[in-house]
Amino acid sequence: MNSVLQAIQPSATLAISARAKELAAQGVRVCNFAAGEPDFDTPDVIKRAAVAAIEAGKTKYTAAKGMPELCRAVAEKFARVNGIAYDPATEILVSSGGKQSLFYAFLALLERGDEVLIPSPAWLSYPELVRVAGGRPRFVKTTARTGYKLTPAQLEKAIRPRSKVLVLNYPSNPTGAVYSASELRALGEAAVARGLWIVADEMYERMVYTDEPFASLASLAPELRARTVTVNGCSKAFSMTGWRIGYAGAPKEVLSLMAAAQSHCASNPCTPAQYAALAAFVDPASEEAVKPMIAAFRERADRIYSLLRKIPGVRVLRPEGAFYIFPNVKAFGLDAVTFCRRLLEERHVAAVPGTPFGSADHVRFSYACSMDTIEEGMSRFASFCASLRQR
Ligand SMILES: Cc1ncc(COP(=O)(O)O)c(C=O)c1O
Repeated sequence: MNSVLQAIQPSATLAISARAKELAAQGVRVCNFAAGEPDFDTPDVIKRAAVAAIEAGKTKYTAAKGMPELCRAVAEKFARVNGIAYDPATEILVSSGGKQSLFYAFLALLERGDEVLIPSPAWLSYPELVRVAGGRPRFVKTTARTGYKLTPAQLEKAIRPRSKVLVLNYPSNPTGAVYSASELRALGEAAVARGLWIVADEMYERMVYTDEPFASLASLAPELRARTVTVNGCSKAFSMTGWRIGYAGAPKEVLSLMAAAQSHCASNPCTPAQYAALAAFVDPASEEAVKPMIAAFRERADRIYSLLRKIPGVRVLRPEGAFYIFPNVKAFGLDAVTFCRRLLEERHVAAVPGTPFGSADHVRFSYACSMDTIEEGMSRFASFCASLRQR
């Protein structure tokens, strides 16, 4: 049996979610902050496009890298929103979720034993995707002092002869950190000067709460574009997690390998879901439907931050993006797994331990939930923290 797959850890997020569901099924009112997906329904205009496609019999295989009209829509989106010019015919891949684009990117870029530098805390799928693709993940620890952002000096120090790829995820799951254009440029230049490729995961680009607008690494200089795979998807942007549509833009020589991998692993992403994604990109009604969702995330980010920062013993940074907040709970003397288990059992608040993200001192709260849940959940969380301080 394959030893790499045998070593993969079951997701801690799923364990917490399963227990939270179990409690809810028993009638307990659980405040659930474990979700990794928007709590909004997929906009109607998008759903209707899929239904129409099915009714019109558009249910067959498509081009392996995605329907040409969808690749064109994605390229137009990259140009309009991100300022990156990709050729729709040779530099765009539509995949079954951003995860799959990431996996193909690692397959395309890595030779067996190559290292992938991952600023940590980091989304827990990166190391597993890298391992399955034959690479070796190497974490580079970041701290609250730099807002959980990698600095060029840290990057320089971490690079070794087999280092091949740098992963940058902004806005970050789990920390909510967002790199500014100048920070991205400095990191990108340092990486490219040392011959690294960059995988830029921009999945949460819509959820940004900084004054500076979101910047895409590949848009900042031709030399950066030439060494970057930009990964994104419809899951978070259009509340389409279950539709499984992701996409990537990359220089032709990389994209062609990613497309070759997809052609044999998946043939193509689900055809009706591609029609749904096409509507998401080209129908102005989808944009209108998404606006209130983005506004809600911003309000929730402000509210949960203002409640958390008042709790004695909790150290927390204002989230700059995504829909996660990542407080440090080290002061309470419990490792994050025990902390979250007790928080769920004693106060019925579900949060995810930071441990699988690379920190046993933190917990991750997702604020993809109602304002009522935030109010009630943070009040319970504050009383839990107070009870720990008294012991
Ligand atoms: C940072 C990050 N990247 C990529 C993904 C992949 O999303 P999907 O495969 O649904 O497109 C996720 C999902 O949680 C994520 O948090």
